[in-house]
Amino acid sequence: MAAPTFSATPGTRDLLSPTTARMRDLVGVFADEATKAGFGQIVPPMFEDLDVFVRLGESTDVVSKELYAFTDAGERQLALRPEFTASVCRAYVQHRPTTPWKAWYAGPAFRQEKAQRGRYRQFDQVGAEVIGSHDPDLDTELIALAWRFYARLGLGQVRLIINTLGDKADRPPFLDALTAHFSAAGEDLSAESRATLQKNPLRVLDSKREQDAEIIAAAPALADFLSDDAAASFDRVQAGLRLLEVPFVVEPKLVRGLDYYTRTTFEFVSDALQSAQNAVGGGGRYDGLVADLGGPADPGVGFALGVDRTLLACDDEGVFGATDAELDVFVVDTTGAFAALSVVDELRRAGLRADRAYDGRSMKAQMKAANRSGATVAVIVGPDEAAAGELLVRPLRQRSEPEGSGAEQRRVATSDLVPVLRGLLD
Ligand code: HAM
Repeated sequence: MAAPTFSATPGTRDLLSPTTARMRDLVGVFADEATKAGFGQIVPPMFEDLDVFVRLGESTDVVSKELYAFTDAGERQLALRPEFTASVCRAYVQHRPTTPWKAWYAGPAFRQEKAQRGRYRQFDQVGAEVIGSHDPDLDTELIALAWRFYARLGLGQVRLIINTLGDKADRPPFLDALTAHFSAAGEDLSAESRATLQKNPLRVLDSKREQDAEIIAAAPALADFLSDDAAASFDRVQAGLRLLEVPFVVEPKLVRGLDYYTRTTFEFVSDALQSAQNAVGGGGRYDGLVADLGGPADPGVGFALGVDRTLLACDDEGVFGATDAELDVFVVDTTGAFAALSVVDELRRAGLRADRAYDGRSMKAQMKAANRSGATVAVIVGPDEAAAGELLVRPLRQRSEPEGSGAEQRRVATSDLVPVLRGLLD
């Protein structure tokens, strides 16, 4: 019986070259922006105690439906991280770094979501968090950091929407007003939203169901319930964004998908993405999360950007293509001895990108492989050259130099190979 074949499980993908190179480049750009802004990198574990993530809010889909939770051999209740913020706060409580603590990260997160374009069960995020400061200028700086990052990728169709969710203390009267408003709608509100209303009335504002649209549009606004302090903080964030010329729209119904937010929240939406999954990033303040994880009452603010969706947006805008990963040199060896093995090793140690043919192929087959490889130059070793301590250097592609300026094949002493190739490749 034939062995069964397997494919990647639904919602997961193999990322292959050149996509992987593009992802590395994207993370490199993000790391550069974050480093310039005084952030150090954190690499938290990919799984944690289940309870760390339960703190994200039991009424959120991320916790109630989407967690990859499991019990390990030691009977520990664990879960794969659905995002990084909870882990960063847990790490802060554990290590107590000096504040404000600025940490950036990159890596995969896991959510059991219904897979579609731009929505996966394993996806990558890059993000940044600052713990230990109430300063609203930090909110502005973080938003600007993400904005400049998108600009550096070349994205021009990203929009920023912002909102404030006020302080936890501002919530009860607002939630009462929301509950009264949605309850009064009775069965005009969708059954799903009526269920959500029982758990967290704020999340009803996030309903995308058409049936709910009118009722949501008429709902009370948090802006009318904000404390003076929270209102002043939001004003300052907006003034800061204007000063830095980061365009934004205030969207009072933006509540985001996680429960920990207080004060500033924001989302980056790509108009280039044709799917419903057009949020390429989001974040905000979470002034109670560190305390919820057993730490001091220290505030936090941060964001995470979806790497997969950001790259889809880059595709749709035709920007940030894969970098040229082509070879410099392809070594063709027909001696049947060790020439190819030693020559590619020497070239790679000299910093050149070098590959070769294997399996003792004919000269013709090896030259075909050389042409297909995209290398700029072929280095050919035959028995005559090997006996004379020489090699043939043959340019494979028309370079930009004028005709006749050294573009033809030539014999080179083995000891001169690296400098000759450097001259040709520069
Ligand atoms: P989030 O909005 O859940 O926030 O995720 C941030 C970004 O990750 C989304 O805008 C999206 O681009 C990407 N993303 C989320 N889920 C998926 C998925 N299933 N497939 C592909 N991409 C996805 C957070 O995760 C918060 N931790 C952000 C934050 C940091 N808030 C404060 N600090």
